[in-house]
Amino acid sequence: DWTTGNVIEEQVEAIRELVGDKRAICGLSGGVDSAVAAALVQKAIGSQLTCVYVDHGLMRKGETEQVEKDFVAATGVQLKVVDAEERFLTALKGVSDPEEKRKIIGREFIRVFEQAQAEIIADEGPAVEFLVQGTLYPDVVESGGGTGTANIKSHHNVGGLPEDLEFQLIEPLRKLFKDEVRMVGQELGLPDEIVQRQPFPGPGLGIRIVGEVTKERLDLLREADAIAREELTAAGLDRDIWQCPVVLLADVRSVGVQGDGRTYGHPIVLRPVSSEDAMTADWSRLPYDVLAKISTRITNEVRDVNRVVLDVTSKPPGTIEWE
Ligand code: XMP
Repeated sequence: DWTTGNVIEEQVEAIRELVGDKRAICGLSGGVDSAVAAALVQKAIGSQLTCVYVDHGLMRKGETEQVEKDFVAATGVQLKVVDAEERFLTALKGVSDPEEKRKIIGREFIRVFEQAQAEIIADEGPAVEFLVQGTLYPDVVESGGGTGTANIKSHHNVGGLPEDLEFQLIEPLRKLFKDEVRMVGQELGLPDEIVQRQPFPGPGLGIRIVGEVTKERLDLLREADAIAREELTAAGLDRDIWQCPVVLLADVRSVGVQGDGRTYGHPIVLRPVSSEDAMTADWSRLPYDVLAKISTRITNEVRDVNRVVLDVTSKPPGTIEWE
């Protein structure tokens, strides 16, 4: 009989037994999956868990602060924040290929963890042998884990792990779909802002820039994304859409006219989708006035963006993310 209570009880017991008197670390991504996974493991082993938040510089506006403040307040978890922006940007320099970006981000992510692990071990205490990840059932299926399905994209938290991985993985959400994860999070007492959070990919804005990832482009995309999120929230649409990736077509320019003359800027793509579990999705029929507001604000407020386009593709054939 599936209930959130059963799932929690079962996982707490299994995690306690597995970890014993050792310690675990958990990467917080800012998303609901890693937050619920961490809260679950925190419930099982308390102070034997240390959470690590890697600021890879690919986060959206305000997200780092939200993890540092809201999540810690809700759980009382031990949190270590690592500022690794420069390292990620250096590793991504000159790279445009989506799969290569994903591999690099996944690899650097694990390496930063190994550094964090070394520092945590140096603090004294039992060995840190476990890494907690918020892998969901759809991630497992899409990466071909255990089902024989073809690998569609190498997911950050499943595929692309380096071979020198030193941790044993704890993936307490591996059998769950997103709505079930939200229920578990709620049962664990996490606040709504975290539990109802829309999904955001591990590689962050790095896979929402079509072309090379640079600091300048990231800043530009962060502005556009913040405007889109602000207007969707203001219109009361957060619960109606599954997520709305905002994508910068950095390798594309188009001609426009603004103020005194000609512009030659980049398009921003809005990708609002509705979905049950991200395995399939449909494009959201957002009200025209909301789309108009987002478009006007982005083209007025974001330097170098002179066009906003709407993605009207379902999944399949399109994926939710562009890379
Ligand atoms: P796609 O683009 O495959 O996305 O239709 C399905 C869902 O997964 C999210 N996504 C990721 N989540 N690491 C994650 O944790 C990743 O590498 C990753 N890639 C895509 C995407 O945002 C959507 O919710």
